[in-house]
Amino acid sequence: MDRFFINGPCKIKGSIKLSGSKNASLPILAATILFDEPVEIKNLPNVKDIETMLDLLKSLGFSVKKNKINNSVIIKKKKIKTFASYSLVKTMRAGILVLGPLVAKYRKAITSLPGGCLIGARPVNIHLNVLKKLGMSHQIKKGYIYANAKKGLKGSIIKFPQISVGATENAILAATLAEGKTILKNCAIEPEIKIDLTNFLNKAGAKIKWIGKRSVQVEGVKKLNRVIHSVMADRIECGTFCVVAAISKGELKINGLNPKIISTEIKLLKKIGAKIKTLDQSIIIKGPNKIKNIKFLQTKEYDGFPTDLQAQFMALLCKADGRSVICESIFENRFMHVAELKRLGAKISIIKNKAIIKGNSNFEGAELMSSDLRASAALVVAAIVAKGSSVINRIYHLDRGYENIEIKLKKIGVNIKRLS
Ligand code: UD1
Repeated sequence: MDRFFINGPCKIKGSIKLSGSKNASLPILAATILFDEPVEIKNLPNVKDIETMLDLLKSLGFSVKKNKINNSVIIKKKKIKTFASYSLVKTMRAGILVLGPLVAKYRKAITSLPGGCLIGARPVNIHLNVLKKLGMSHQIKKGYIYANAKKGLKGSIIKFPQISVGATENAILAATLAEGKTILKNCAIEPEIKIDLTNFLNKAGAKIKWIGKRSVQVEGVKKLNRVIHSVMADRIECGTFCVVAAISKGELKINGLNPKIISTEIKLLKKIGAKIKTLDQSIIIKGPNKIKNIKFLQTKEYDGFPTDLQAQFMALLCKADGRSVICESIFENRFMHVAELKRLGAKISIIKNKAIIKGNSNFEGAELMSSDLRASAALVVAAIVAKGSSVINRIYHLDRGYENIEIKLKKIGVNIKRLS
């Protein structure tokens, strides 16, 4: 199992080109199931979760032609099998995103349940209920969802009981080929959905229109046309590098993302004292000499503070001058990084879903264990400013979502080595 060796504290300076967004790529790849024509997708990040989704598409009977030079793939329908196996869905929860498209296009699917993961139980009841309202029936047997829609899916008016990114995506994908009009209310409006997935499908001939902050209207179409699409940049990668600069008194120019997409994060970074300049597709950030605390910070659905940056901000606030509180309101068990940050010298206590961070911590290098994707990113951020050497074990978690992470970190001044 690969490990990272980081020797800190590191002086951070330079520029970063963001990779394509993992969370935008996954539903777009699942959407290719809806097509008869070939689809070309560019700017896919070269990370494990994308590889898994491409393997899943191959197992369903699509050919996948990769062009490594520009990170693009051409996906073509061959002989379709509507079976998504446990071996592929178990490692990546987004595997459930093939269910809606398979049922919409092929009227049946056998899809493995994704199972739980370390950050919480992660059920799929909202996905199943919305697809049921569109006309899918299903049974769960031996860990698989046996789904069918013999007469095809039909449009409906549906209000999500709770905001879910994946369920909103599954519903939009299914409604795209359903008969008639669907209106979805209380949707997740992450830019990966409201901008990228919507633009991709509309370019191919879908009729998706956002009709309110959290409502979308999808008029079903008979077929989608051949399309080429380039995936948007990764806003979580952007936020992570902003934190790297902020925690280390560093200076970074981060290129490839419209800063308006992360205005919540930019406000918070300014609050802790970072100096930020925004350009059309870049952010220039300079970390403060003294990091200010944030009294109360709560994770929320977009356009609130993202749960996927909670761990990285916690590492940052450990170095702040004063006490901060972070409340995790999306996932019930997303504090696994806390014990590891404490090994570096952090003073954090947990009360239910709140982390009370004492601040003014001096980090000293230690041996650490990654537990999930974003928790691992927080450990890297902390190790960069810790005095001495840190070893971060199980970095396969990081490889699921950050492209060329150590190459990018090295380039901006991090003393990092991958040990295999
Ligand atoms: C997506 C993101 C993930 C991010 C999360 C929240 C992708 C591939 N992953 O995950 O990086 O952390 O959004 O922003 O885009 N829930 C249910 N029943 C369901 C579905 C969800 O109870 O059927 C609950 C979840 O347990 C969680 C909450 O709803 O507590 C939000 O989850 P959801 O928005 O669905 O997250 P994902 O789509 O899995």
